[in-house]
Amino acid sequence: MIIAIDGPAASGKGTLARRLAARFGLHHLDTGLTYRAAAAKMLADGVPLDDETQAAQAAEHVDFSALDRDTLSLHEIGEAASRIAVMPTVRRALVEGQRRFAQIPPGAVLDGRDIGTVVCPDADVKLFVTASPQVRARRRTDELQGRGLAANYDEILADLVRRDERDSTRTDSPLRPADDAHLLDTSEMDIETAFRKAVDIVDGL
Ligand code: C5P
Repeated sequence: MIIAIDGPAASGKGTLARRLAARFGLHHLDTGLTYRAAAAKMLADGVPLDDETQAAQAAEHVDFSALDRDTLSLHEIGEAASRIAVMPTVRRALVEGQRRFAQIPPGAVLDGRDIGTVVCPDADVKLFVTASPQVRARRRTDELQGRGLAANYDEILADLVRRDERDSTRTDSPLRPADDAHLLDTSEMDIETAFRKAVDIVDGL
């Protein structure tokens, strides 16, 4: 069983993916963390982010068993991840690992930008989770402030819009719903309602 969840930054897809994995007893892979881990390695080594050879090498060496959202959540890492995510050689290396992960029994929930379209086009269920940029920026701001961190709504909104633009307009695997994806707009929905709707979709298989 494979559940593919795609959507833009801060749409709620990560929380949904985690909860669906727990509900259905599946593994979970946040594929954004794989791009972040490769980007973090480049930042730590002081390698220029436009060096595709080094980026591909960093991608090949990502350890899928040691992906930690807390250490990879820095804003700079997300920004760097979206810059190296436009490179086909980086994507090829990471997609290979993601597909291998999806094959581990009894199956997995994967969330990202290209799961339903590229990584697992034969997934049993595909969800595309969206919310307006304003709602996503508000959620991200509240989340950071709730953790005692500084967060400025206007800056976060501008960042989200820029990252969405880069993710949606790149040539290789742009962010877009698969033709057979169920669309879930969470702008006017709390996470509990979104979760119940997603469970209904999976149960309706
Ligand atoms: O989801 P997250 O914000 O952690 O992803 C960081 C960046 O990694 C995204 O902005 C996107 O450019 C890239 N990414 C991707 N394909 C995926 C997951 C993430 O291109 N499947």
